[in-house]
Amino acid sequence: MDRDRVVRLTDEIYDRIEDPAWRIRAISHSHAVASLAALLARVRGLDAELAALCGQLHDLAAYERLSYDNHAALGAERAVQFLRELGEQDESVLCLVHSAILRHDDLGKTDGPMDEVLKDADLLDNAQLRAPEKLRPEEIKRLCRVFEELGIRQNPYGAGQATVPNSI
Ligand SMILES: [Fe+2]
Ligand SMILES: [Fe+2]
Repeated sequence: MDRDRVVRLTDEIYDRIEDPAWRIRAISHSHAVASLAALLARVRGLDAELAALCGQLHDLAAYERLSYDNHAALGAERAVQFLRELGEQDESVLCLVHSAILRHDDLGKTDGPMDEVLKDADLLDNAQLRAPEKLRPEEIKRLCRVFEELGIRQNPYGAGQATVPNSI
């Protein structure tokens, strides 16, 4: 699947969102998560282009409906439909995209490698908008793990430590 085409078409959808807060969030978050997912996929030896597709499409259903209600399940279906309409016929690709988007909010669980890439990428971007004290324990644990994996020693979410605190 041509990533540039997916980005162009999703950006066209996001550009039509009337509410400026939703519109800006849709574009910036989708691009950020796509880039972060590609980076994490490379680090983990996975398909970076596929990870970027998952990132670009993961909240499409939320942005089309302007609601996060059930957006992971709806988004998984929507992303598959979107990719099929663009001609994607590889069922293994569609299956990986569906699974990653379906599970992207299940931060307390460990799922498949591509599912985990999308969860981590989404969290990395979301966490930037929230005060560290507003993060849930499973989010801090996940962030600590990713920072450690990337060799980032100063973790802004874990009281200056890259390892998971004992209390979590
Ligand atoms: Fe989401
Ligand atoms: Fe998201």
